[in-house]
Amino acid sequence: MKVLVAGAQGKTARHLVRMLVGNGHEVRGLVRREEQLPDVEADGAEAVLVDLETEEVDGAIGEAVAGCDAVVFAAGAGPGSGNARKETMDFGGAAKLVEAAEKNGAGRYLMLSSMGAGDPEDRDEAMRPYLRAKGRADGRLRESGLDWTVIRPGRLTDEDGTGRIDAAGSLGRYGEIPREDVAATFAAALESPNTSGKTFEILAGERPIREALEGL
Ligand SMILES: NC(=O)c1ccc[n+]([C@@H]2O[C@H](COP(=O)([O-])OP(=O)(O)OC[C@H]3O[C@@H](n4cnc5c(N)ncnc54)[C@H](OP(=O)(O)O)[C@@H]3O)[C@@H](O)[C@H]2O)c1
Repeated sequence: MKVLVAGAQGKTARHLVRMLVGNGHEVRGLVRREEQLPDVEADGAEAVLVDLETEEVDGAIGEAVAGCDAVVFAAGAGPGSGNARKETMDFGGAAKLVEAAEKNGAGRYLMLSSMGAGDPEDRDEAMRPYLRAKGRADGRLRESGLDWTVIRPGRLTDEDGTGRIDAAGSLGRYGEIPREDVAATFAAALESPNTSGKTFEILAGERPIREALEGL
C-alpha cells in the first residue's frame, strides 16, 4: 500500500514511518519545514514539503495525496501553539487533508485524535480549544465517504513501547501511552478491517495490539 503520513517528522510519526516501511509499505512523508526532509528520507520514505495550514487542497496538498491509497494524519500544532493554530492546524490541516483524500482517491484515512476530543466541555478549560478542534476534525472525517478510523490516545510519552494496549470506544479512565505503541497501533489498524468506521481510545495496557484491535 502507498501511505501518506502527515507530520512525518513528528515524534509519533517517525516511529510510524519506520514501521510502515518495515512492513513493506511505500511511504510518502509530508513535512512543513525543509530541514525536516532528511530525517524522513533517512526513515525510508519519500519526503514532500507541504504546509497544511497555508497551502491548498487543489494545489500542493492534493498533489501530496495523489497516488496514495491511505492517509495517516499524525501532525499537530503542538503544545503552546496558541488558539489560532488549533483552528488552522489541528482542525483546518486535518480537514483539508480529508478533502484532499476525497478528491484524490485515497480511500483510507486514519486520524491521530486525542482522548477528550469527544467531550471537550467536560475537560480542563485550558485543553478545551485543542480538544474542540480535534473533535471537529474527527467529525469532518466521519462525515466523509472515506474508509475512516479515529484513534484517541491518552497522554503521549517517549517511553519504549511494550506492544500492549487497552482499546475501547470508551475506556472510562485517563492515562498515558508511549508514542511507539501509538505508532504500532496505527500500523496494525491500517491492515485491520475491524477498525474501519470506528472511533476508539487507547492507553498503555495488557493486550497485544492486534488482539486489542480485533476485540473492538
Ligand atoms: N502530546 C500528547 O500528549 C497528545 C495526546 C493525544 C494526541 N496527541 C496528538 O498526537 C499527534 C502527534 O503528537 P506528537 O507529539 O507525536 O507530534 P509532534 O512531535 O508535535 O509532531 C507534529 C508534527 O506536525 C508538524 N506540523 C505542524 N504544523 C504543520 C503544518 N502546518 N503542516 C504540516 N505539518 C505540520 C510539526 O512540524 P513542526 O515541528 O514544524 O511544528 C511536527 O513535525 C498530534 O496530532 C497531537 O495533537 C498528542
